[in-house]
Amino acid sequence: MHRTHTCGEITENNINLKVALCGWVNKRRDFGKIIFIDLRDRFGLIQLVIDTEKLNSEEIKSLRNEWVIKSHGIVRKRSPGMENRNLKTGNIEIDVLSIEILSESKTPPFSIFEDNTVTNEELRLKYRFLDIRRKEIQEKIILRSNVAFQVRKVLTENNFIEVTTPVLCKSTPEGARDYLVPSRLFGGNFYALPQSPQLFKQLLMIGGIDRYFQLPICFRDEDPRADRQPEFTQIDIEMSFAEKEDLFKIAESMVKEIFKNTINEDVKIPISKMFYHDALEKYGTDKPDLRFGMELIRIEDILKKSTFQIFLDSLKEGAIIKAINVKCGSNFSRKNLDEFTTIVKSFGLKGLTFIKKAQNEISSSILKFLDEKVIKDLEERLQIEDGDLIIIACDKEDIVNKSLDHLRRKIAKDKNLCKEDDFKFVWIVDFPLFELDKENNTLSACHHPFTSPREVDLKLLDSEPLKAKAEAYDLVLNGYEIAGGSKRIFRSDIQKKIFSLLNLTDNDIEEKFGFFIEALKYGTPPHLGIAFGFDRLMMLLTKTENIRDVIAFPKTLKGLDLMMNSPSFVNEKQLSELSIKTTKQEDIHWQ
Ligand code: AMO
Repeated sequence: MHRTHTCGEITENNINLKVALCGWVNKRRDFGKIIFIDLRDRFGLIQLVIDTEKLNSEEIKSLRNEWVIKSHGIVRKRSPGMENRNLKTGNIEIDVLSIEILSESKTPPFSIFEDNTVTNEELRLKYRFLDIRRKEIQEKIILRSNVAFQVRKVLTENNFIEVTTPVLCKSTPEGARDYLVPSRLFGGNFYALPQSPQLFKQLLMIGGIDRYFQLPICFRDEDPRADRQPEFTQIDIEMSFAEKEDLFKIAESMVKEIFKNTINEDVKIPISKMFYHDALEKYGTDKPDLRFGMELIRIEDILKKSTFQIFLDSLKEGAIIKAINVKCGSNFSRKNLDEFTTIVKSFGLKGLTFIKKAQNEISSSILKFLDEKVIKDLEERLQIEDGDLIIIACDKEDIVNKSLDHLRRKIAKDKNLCKEDDFKFVWIVDFPLFELDKENNTLSACHHPFTSPREVDLKLLDSEPLKAKAEAYDLVLNGYEIAGGSKRIFRSDIQKKIFSLLNLTDNDIEEKFGFFIEALKYGTPPHLGIAFGFDRLMMLLTKTENIRDVIAFPKTLKGLDLMMNSPSFVNEKQLSELSIKTTKQEDIHWQ
């Protein structure tokens, strides 16, 4: 070992001990007679003191930030008044006997030692290896490792075994585009990178593994979002001979252990459940943030008694009307309200209607269309008090839901109602099995095609498939879907039926899933599973809204790796070995 201790582990118990330390120069202060160096490694920071009368060299004078050095010295107590309370090692220092430069450093493009330096993220990603030296990122990487340890501990204690599944495989439909890898040996043929190990984990159940888990990397070529990455990690779980409640118990105990043992938060279990339909009704989304109220309330039955023609006409065309009550919102300015209207336009809503109650007076642009009874009913239904602002949306159900969900979350954020260390979990259950792809007028799976319909709904598959409910569940935390899973179809005839309802021909089924349908015929145990989005869970544990902060080497929103400059061109020889001709080569602007 080059060192006897790490920088963070030396304490007053080591006083008078001769130690060897290695690390980066975090900061250097030269007072002529004395030079102070803060030496840093991932375990902490310690002050080295060089008495230039005893130890004087050009080398020591040349030391700069981020150089890597090795130092021998004696641990001593700091002189009274010189202690640093903000530092774990703030009562001690190293009386330096020797310094050896192990590696010099160019001046970094941003400061490493100043915490909370706001640096352009692109620059940080370009020099990610330096960014990782920053405490903020390093702490997140370390926490991630601790979470992975808790996952392995809980699951192993519950008899789950960790199995690695292939990365070069055949596409499994999870709703996104696949990343493809060309086969050199079989030109014109492609592997797909897994969107998740869904089929493999089911095949492991058929293989009798009984309880499986893995922390796999999954690849999805989908539209970018702040909580998405093209490659991300799951905590993937599958078990046989169990019911939903058994799986919920295991998932909940895992979550409880993670939160307790990494950030010392107590998660109350069992976690409550909400029907998918109720989530959409009350929050306009299947991933509701339950840290605050402002629920969506239906009022079309009241407003159909108004004389406001726009509402009356829309109601005739099948519109719905919902409202939210923003407590103490009556003092929102015109500018705020205009901003809300602009926001909802992006969801296709033509406008919003506002009602305010201030100084016990109701005011609204539609007041003249509301008689006393309508106003009274609204006051009662929406529990309007003095100071409240009511926001009303009238349109098709999904447009109203999307708009009010967005506004609800925005207003809560602006009003500081989302406390970061308030963790509100909820299971969303009873999802529909299918949704209608309006563009093609076809059915698509709400979760994935391997999700079992409820036993009682099997009879609906032929007549009214859109009414069938799935044995599926999501775990939602503070407005994020952190996990999703389902009971699986374990009968080959039902699996085939679902594929054909999803518009796959017999040929498609045979070509894409023949092996799986065949496997289901060899004694398949009933099984179910779940996958957590590991990165999303880490975002919540580390209280960041940026998924890139919790991934050591993330991609940008455009899927670029700014450090390696990838994706990149490959040469003609490589392409021809892979039997590939490209039709265009787009230049990427890296800055
Ligand atoms: P699903 O597609 O819901 O289920 O994915 C499981 C969880 O993974 C996370 N997630 C993502 N995280 C970051 N970037 C992405 N692009 C991304 N996409 C998904 C979410 C999500 O809840 N095979 C099924 C699981 C099962 O049925 O067992 C599956 O992959 O947190």
